[in-house]
Amino acid sequence: MSGAHNPIIRGERVWLRRFEKDDVASYKAAVNDADVAYWAGYVYPQNDVMVERFFDKRASGEEFFFVISPLDGSEFLGTIWLWNMGNRLGGPELSMFIADAANRGKGLGSDAIDAMLDFAFGHLDHHRIWLTTLASNTGAQRAFEKAGFREEGVVRDHYLRHGRRVDSVQMSILRPDWEAIERARIWDRNST
Ligand SMILES: CC(C)(COP(=O)(O)OP(=O)(O)OC[C@H]1O[C@@H](n2cnc3c(N)ncnc32)[C@H](O)[C@@H]1OP(=O)(O)O)[C@@H](O)C(=O)NCCC(=O)NCCS
Repeated sequence: MSGAHNPIIRGERVWLRRFEKDDVASYKAAVNDADVAYWAGYVYPQNDVMVERFFDKRASGEEFFFVISPLDGSEFLGTIWLWNMGNRLGGPELSMFIADAANRGKGLGSDAIDAMLDFAFGHLDHHRIWLTTLASNTGAQRAFEKAGFREEGVVRDHYLRHGRRVDSVQMSILRPDWEAIERARIWDRNST
């Protein structure tokens, strides 16, 4: 699999693609890393069978679990995921990670978030995308805020981490927020 020349979800430096069998090892390594696990909420070690089962469940088409790859290739940089699609929660939830700490803080995450929002609001008809971060994850909050998310509030004692209950910060972006953002959209970079 090489880079896509004209991918549907095309950011400035990354594109979002479906996962392939080849991604199992990279995903497994990422979620078994204590750092990613801590920030992104993977609480127990996972093996190939568990990852394959997870991928199978994501293949239904209802959820949008994408691999983040550089525009010029198919390297696994991380994942971005639109899930919890039912209306009960007021729109889908967004989760993501950039696997290698050395690749963070370079704008790849922001590019992937912008691309996912263009997909969710521009190709799918969503009104609200939301997420929660650990309250201590100010870096992620900054990344989401930069993409147009706003803080909705603190969820007290939401998660258990390292034996302690910790707060989370819930954030969301509404369609009008996204519409008001002036930047190139994923389709502006397509040849059609
Ligand atoms: C959160 C995450 C996806 C952001 O992706 P990224 O590629 O690192 O973010 P970017 O480089 O696009 O940075 C976007 C903004 O957030 C800021 N930021 C990102 N990570 C930061 C950190 N750890 N500390 C401080 N600021 C940070 C950047 O400085 C930038 O703001 P600026 O332009 O004002 O300087 C990535 O850091 C990550 O995977 N973290 C670990 C897993 C995680 O926290 N997932 C989210 C769970 S909700």
